[in-house]
Amino acid sequence: MHKRAFLGAAAFLLASAAAAQPAAQAAPFRIGLILPMTGPFSAVGKQVDAGVRLYLAQHGETLGGRRIEVLLKDDGAVPATSRRLAQELVSTDKVDALAGFAITPSALAVAPIATQSRTPMVVMSAAASSITEASPFAVRTSFTVGQVSVPLADWVARSGMRKAVTLVTDYAPGVDAEQSFTERFKADGGQVLGALRVPLHGPDFAPFMQKVRDLKPDALFIFVPAPAAPAVVKQFRERGLDKAGIKLVGTGDVVDDDSLNNIGDDALGIVTSHHYSAAHKSASNEGFVQGIAKAHPGMRPNFMAVGGYGGMQLIDAALRKTRGAGGGEALIAAMKGQTLEDPRGPWTLDARTRDVVQNVYIRRVEKVDGQLYNVEFETTKAVADPGKAK
Ligand code: PHB
Repeated sequence: MHKRAFLGAAAFLLASAAAAQPAAQAAPFRIGLILPMTGPFSAVGKQVDAGVRLYLAQHGETLGGRRIEVLLKDDGAVPATSRRLAQELVSTDKVDALAGFAITPSALAVAPIATQSRTPMVVMSAAASSITEASPFAVRTSFTVGQVSVPLADWVARSGMRKAVTLVTDYAPGVDAEQSFTERFKADGGQVLGALRVPLHGPDFAPFMQKVRDLKPDALFIFVPAPAAPAVVKQFRERGLDKAGIKLVGTGDVVDDDSLNNIGDDALGIVTSHHYSAAHKSASNEGFVQGIAKAHPGMRPNFMAVGGYGGMQLIDAALRKTRGAGGGEALIAAMKGQTLEDPRGPWTLDARTRDVVQNVYIRRVEKVDGQLYNVEFETTKAVADPGKAK
């Protein structure tokens, strides 16, 4: 056989062998999952990872014809580490997608790498509005702090409380919470007597609580990242703010399902707004709560586990739509406008902003069967992030 004919035949054989292969034997689809598995934010990492793994356990390790490989990397929630790990995952491991991101500074540190390498970046936890604007390859399956603060401002005003003080952690999501709550509460006829910001690392809440007491508001609105929540609730009670007639309200981060039982009965009666509660009533959520408890005895999923689960569902939908082909631009295009349903309820990935549009629930901490839960009692449907220009 002439060399050219031989090469042609060989190429034909190779091509037909590739075509005959089941899609599952195509190259694996690699996801670089960057999360804090150690350090003060490790609870976030464990929750997101548990959600990711449960999705794979329930749906099989092959999505859209591609075997999924998850490369979990511990960034300790240190942005410079998140960035270095993302760079390695993209250049050395050749991942098809980056995912995870517990805190906003980590997500913002990685965004330029997603852009440069044209790699989709699925934000499963971090919640400042600006993240999805930092890269055209960023999509979010968690929530935005502003998104949940607006319906809460409405509820506080409707409940007859006229004067509020805000207390937030001094970084991008905290500033979003403060601005979204304040703008809406004022539009609702309320007055904000003070805006307090506490440091991200090692905050001492005591002096701030004293200040709030002196200002005598009807309500204290709080956003702190979930791992700081038990300390803030404890200080609120210890300083006697509840006895002074001040109502504690906040984003769901303040009483997340993971820390609720650590906070204990001090949490009873606290009203918050969020997109997920472990007490959410649906068949999908029942299976989710049971699935997490089975895989991790004693663990209750919180909103971060849902962000991980929803992120995998979004990757699954995009892989199916592109028939397993992948590719950064194609995957992002396939993700835009997807409407999905998961343990939180229905949600859409907004095609314009690449951010999550979802129901926001107002909830109150109550005891159910001897355990503390956020019991949902009001729903605002399909809420978008207020931080995106129309
Ligand atoms: C964030 O840094 O974006 C963040 C972290 C923890 C939360 C909420 C937001 O509970």
